[in-house]
Formats: sequence, structure tokens, C-alpha cells
Amino acid sequence: MLRVLGLLLAASAVRSLTPARVLVYTATQGFRHDSIPTAIQALNNASSFINVLFDDTEDETRFTDENLANYDSIMFVSTTGEVLDDAGKAAFQNYLNLGGNFVGVHSASDSLVNTSFYGQELGAYFDYHPALQNATVDVLDASHPSVSMLPSEWHIQEEMYNFKSDPRTLGAVVVLSANESSYVDTGVRNFNQGTPHPSAWFQEHGAGVQSGHTAGRSFYTSLGHLNETWEDPLFMAHVLGGLTWALQANTTRAFNTSAVVGNAGAAPPDSTTTPSPNMSASPSTLISAGHVSIVTALLAVAVGVYFTFSM
Ligand SMILES: *[C@@H]1O[C@H](CO)[C@@H](O)[C@H](O)[C@H]1NC(C)=O
Ligand SMILES: *[C@@H]1O[C@H](CO)[C@@H](O)[C@H](O)[C@H]1NC(C)=O
Ligand SMILES: *[C@@H]1O[C@H](CO)[C@@H](O)[C@H](O)[C@H]1NC(C)=O
Ligand SMILES: *[C@@H]1O[C@H](CO)[C@@H](O)[C@H](O)[C@H]1NC(C)=O
Ligand SMILES: *[C@@H]1O[C@H](CO)[C@@H](O)[C@H](O)[C@H]1NC(C)=O
Ligand SMILES: *[C@@H]1O[C@H](CO)[C@@H](O)[C@H](O)[C@H]1NC(C)=O
Ligand SMILES: *[C@@H]1O[C@H](CO)[C@@H](O)[C@H](O)[C@H]1NC(C)=O
Repeated sequence: MLRVLGLLLAASAVRSLTPARVLVYTATQGFRHDSIPTAIQALNNASSFINVLFDDTEDETRFTDENLANYDSIMFVSTTGEVLDDAGKAAFQNYLNLGGNFVGVHSASDSLVNTSFYGQELGAYFDYHPALQNATVDVLDASHPSVSMLPSEWHIQEEMYNFKSDPRTLGAVVVLSANESSYVDTGVRNFNQGTPHPSAWFQEHGAGVQSGHTAGRSFYTSLGHLNETWEDPLFMAHVLGGLTWALQANTTRAFNTSAVVGNAGAAPPDSTTTPSPNMSASPSTLISAGHVSIVTALLAVAVGVYFTFSM
């Protein structure tokens, strides 16, 4: 039954003509997460289900006007440090000015720390985190596709990031917050990150755009440290919900044939294949009814991480 559902979803995904195209950047100059290969694999596994093609690179010379113009979003996954040269930064800024979208995951907030347009597009820079441990994050805005499938109190094992500023001061909407009573952090807070403690957020108009230009959307989540995280269907639904929401900015070709950046000739991704926001039964209802594994499997199929090809 699940296999049939998976195939139906796959079939409806390929029915759309040209997929949205996303550049996944995983370059590191500082700490390197060993979950990066798992992240890349998890995203590529989801590709056909959400009608998004992922191009993975660690090559900063891919950041040119000509190349970036092919993408509906740029996605920084666990990048660290100074991962772009001046030419790359200029091309990235230009891409954002042309309506390009941005998604950042985990230590994306610990890269390009002196590049102000990047910091604004991201929302806030990483400050420090306490040791990896179990914690709870709370869903603040269940209407957003990046969190609509999550339990209102989501138990995770993660590095709970603290930030150097409050992303809300840039207009970001925080969708997920850290429950500070659920874990131990004895670090010293030198910055005001606002309340409640931000863990994931979106910007309807990415603040990295220069004035007078078209702003795309931005989404950031601080989660994503472990292999296990990227193998978790709920986390994948969170990330892919944020990504597919960003792609629907209508400022890139995937959703707007008049746009100037994005996959040329792209048809809109099929909205019925985006993660669970359109699912008829809410996960929490079914979980309380004792169907946890079915819900997990359905979410997994919806975001394309279920073992469709291995069943
Ligand atoms: C995470 O997965 C990668 C392969 O994708 C592997 O090299 C690495 O050792 C794994 N990390 C841990 C802690 O198991
Ligand atoms: C990706 O799909 C392959 C094939 O189904 C599977 O073996 C692998 O575990 C998946 N990887 C992730 C990270 O989801
Ligand atoms: C960023 O700026 C600070 C303060 O000027 C400086 O100490 C630091 O080395 C810079 N970092 C990078 C990566 O350029
Ligand atoms: C962390 O949570 C996992 C389940 O998500 C559980 O198996 C593990 O025992 C917990 N660890 C601690 C130290 O509480
Ligand atoms: C926060 O975590 C504490 C400790 O686990 C728990 O007692 C409390 O109910 C949680 N609050 C929320 C809003 O999740
Ligand atoms: C983008 O276009 C779709 C389809 O026309 C529409 O439903 C959606 O509201 C638009 N989104 C924005 C932000 O304009
Ligand atoms: C589509 O892109 C064009 C060119 O950037 C822009 O003028 C127009 O407002 C966009 N349409 C929507 C619905 O955002």
C-alpha cells in the first residue's frame, strides 16, 4: 500500500515538466560535519517527490552570475567559515537582488561571518552551542509548511544554537523555538537573540537584498547536526517544507515564467507533492490514535525519503 502511494506521488511529481533547481553548497573552512554526505544523500533521495533537482557543490567558482541564474534557490548546508571569495559574494548578492531564494541549514549560520548581506539574508549568526544533547523545540507557528507536520513539542537530539542577534529585528518570523528548560546550557550569553529562543525562522522578503531590487524568500533552521537527524523523516519534512515554501516566492522561474533567475522553462512544482501541509490527517491526531509508524511512513513518502525503491 505504501509502495503504491509512493509510486502515485512519484508519478504526480514527474507529471510536472521541468523541476525547480537548487544549488546545495556544503563547503567548509572551519569545522566539518561528518553528516554532510548523509545530508546530500537525503536531499537527493527526496528530489523526485518534491520535483526539485539538487546540484551539490563545494566549488566556490560555481558562484558566478551566469551559473547562479539557473537556480530557484541557493541552499547552504552545514557550511563553516569563509566559503566564498569576493567574486562569489558579489554573484550571490546579485542573485538575491534578482529575486533568488535562500535556505540555510545548521552551521550555515557560522559561515561568511563578516559578510553583512549574507548575515541579513540568513537572519542571525551563530554564537555558541552547549554540548549535543536531548532537547525540546516548540512549534510557534503551525501554519507554516516547515513546521506544520511537527509535534507541538518536538523532542530532538541536537546542538542547541545560540545566536548573536534576534532574527525578528530583520522581519523574520520564528517558527520553532528552543525550550530552555529541556536541556543544559551553562554558556555565557553575550548577545540578545530575543524571546522565545529562535531555532528556525523564515523571511517573506529576504533581508539580504539591496534596496530597489526584488527580494526572494529565506528560510533557516539551526537543526541538522547528526546523520540520524538527516535520516529522520520529521526533520526532512521540516527542511523540505521550508525549502518548498521558499521556492513558492514567485520570484524565480519555478513559479514565475517572467522571473530572471531559476531553472529555465520550469513548470511550477506540483503542490500536491510538497510535504505534509496538504495531508488530510494531522500527524498529531494519528499519533495520538496510535498510528505512529504509519504517520512516519506517510510523512517519509511525502518528503521522498521513504524506501520507495527498496520495497
Ligand atoms: C555519518 O555518515 C557518514 C557517511 O555518510 C560517515 O562517514 C560518518 O562516519 C557517520 N558519522 C557517525 C558519527 O556515525
Ligand atoms: C537514500 O536512499 C537510499 C536508497 O533507497 C537508501 O539506501 C539511503 O539510506 C537513503 N539515504 C538517506 C540519507 O535517506
Ligand atoms: C571578521 O571581522 C572580525 C573583526 O574585524 C575579525 O577579527 C575576523 O578575523 C574577521 N573574520 C573573517 C573570517 O574575516
Ligand atoms: C535521548 O532521546 C532518545 C530518544 O529520542 C533516547 O533513546 C535517549 O535515551 C535519550 N538520551 C538521554 C541522555 O536522555
Ligand atoms: C519545557 O521543558 C520542560 C522540561 O522538559 C517541560 O517541563 C515543559 O513542559 C516544557 N515546556 C514547553 C512549553 O514545552
Ligand atoms: C504564487 O503563485 C501561486 C500560483 O499562482 C499563488 O497561489 C501564490 O499565492 C503565489 N504566492 C505569492 C507569494 O505571491
Ligand atoms: C514574476 O517575475 C517578474 C520579474 O521579476 C516580476 O515583475 C513579477 O512581479 C513576478 N510575479 C510574481 C507573481 O511575483
